[in-house]
Amino acid sequence: MAKLFETLKIKDLTLKNRIVMAPMCMYQATTDGYPTMFHTIHYVNRAIGGVGLIILEATAVEARGRISGNDLGLWEDEQVEPLKKLVHEIKQYGAKVCVQLGHAGRKCGVKAENSISSSSIPFSDKYQTPKEMTKDDIKDVISSFRNSAKRAFEAGFDTIQLHGAHGYLINQFLSPLTNKREDEYGGSIGNRVRFLKEILVSIQRVWPKEKPIMLRISAEEFVEDGNHVDDLIKVINLVKAYGVDIVDVSGGGVIADASINPYPGYQIKYAEKIKQNTDVVTVAGGLVTTPEMAEEVVSNDRSDLVFFGRLLLRDPYFPLHAANKLNHEMEWIKPYKRGR
Ligand SMILES: Cc1cc2nc3c(=O)[nH]c(=O)nc-3n(C[C@H](O)[C@H](O)[C@H](O)COP(=O)(O)O)c2cc1C
Repeated sequence: MAKLFETLKIKDLTLKNRIVMAPMCMYQATTDGYPTMFHTIHYVNRAIGGVGLIILEATAVEARGRISGNDLGLWEDEQVEPLKKLVHEIKQYGAKVCVQLGHAGRKCGVKAENSISSSSIPFSDKYQTPKEMTKDDIKDVISSFRNSAKRAFEAGFDTIQLHGAHGYLINQFLSPLTNKREDEYGGSIGNRVRFLKEILVSIQRVWPKEKPIMLRISAEEFVEDGNHVDDLIKVINLVKAYGVDIVDVSGGGVIADASINPYPGYQIKYAEKIKQNTDVVTVAGGLVTTPEMAEEVVSNDRSDLVFFGRLLLRDPYFPLHAANKLNHEMEWIKPYKRGR
């Protein structure tokens, strides 16, 4: 049997296969952060297609933490109900559902908001110069993450993912390229990880212990003086005791002009190294374009799970097609059985 189609249990979350839909901003929410009909069509289709775990796109924990004016949000209680309906619809087709909780920090693309960051350094000349966060700002953002996690629980998500990758706020604290602070939140890796650690401690007060917490990271920042996979291994080993069960291994996004030369499977080696040197469940991906590539990754224990982004935009039914390719008898939803 293809390992890509084996189940995986992490705490009380059981995934029917190893296929994860990567979080992808769709910029289709209303300007106040609510999902639209597009989200139902988009995510339910991937659930019908057989994805094991669907990670909803970056969802802002604060209005000033949005990447665009059309991001999803969980910064206020009223945003829970429509997401609850969406989660319910997705789950009917056997997929488990995660939401990526994010804060853009200096990469906030909403002109009306005042952006904040670990240090006052703009991402590029197209972005505002962010305000360096005071201790009070840090406390406020930590509460925003906690309140959003509580709302995510109320909406019925099976797991939450903290967006610690791609140069967004958590990554802005983790990276020596963007964190030039001289207080206990900057300097050594132990200090740069403090903001993330405090978010995790705070979230654990509202997120049930039986449900896993995911963390997405940029394992490679593609700049010499930035973080590399060995630094991220240290970060993970420092935070795993604070409730991180699954690490989703991505890369880049910290510096506007970093030179990335992607090729098929270019980030798998980072996930593999992280899996070997930390004791967490991993999600690997980045230009994984065929069922055979994904099967190789999980069968050789290079990662527990594989994420797919653009491939699932091209082909919402990729898991059904992959099962066919790998000779796995996958259950099709009843109304579609005659199409098998
Ligand atoms: C349209 C689009 C939107 C994305 N939005 C997010 C996002 O909200 N959060 C995130 O962590 N990554 C985001 N990404 C990155 C993807 O999750 C994924 O890591 C990347 O596309 C590489 O995987 P792939 O080669 O399978 O597409 C986005 C990518 C695309 C193409």
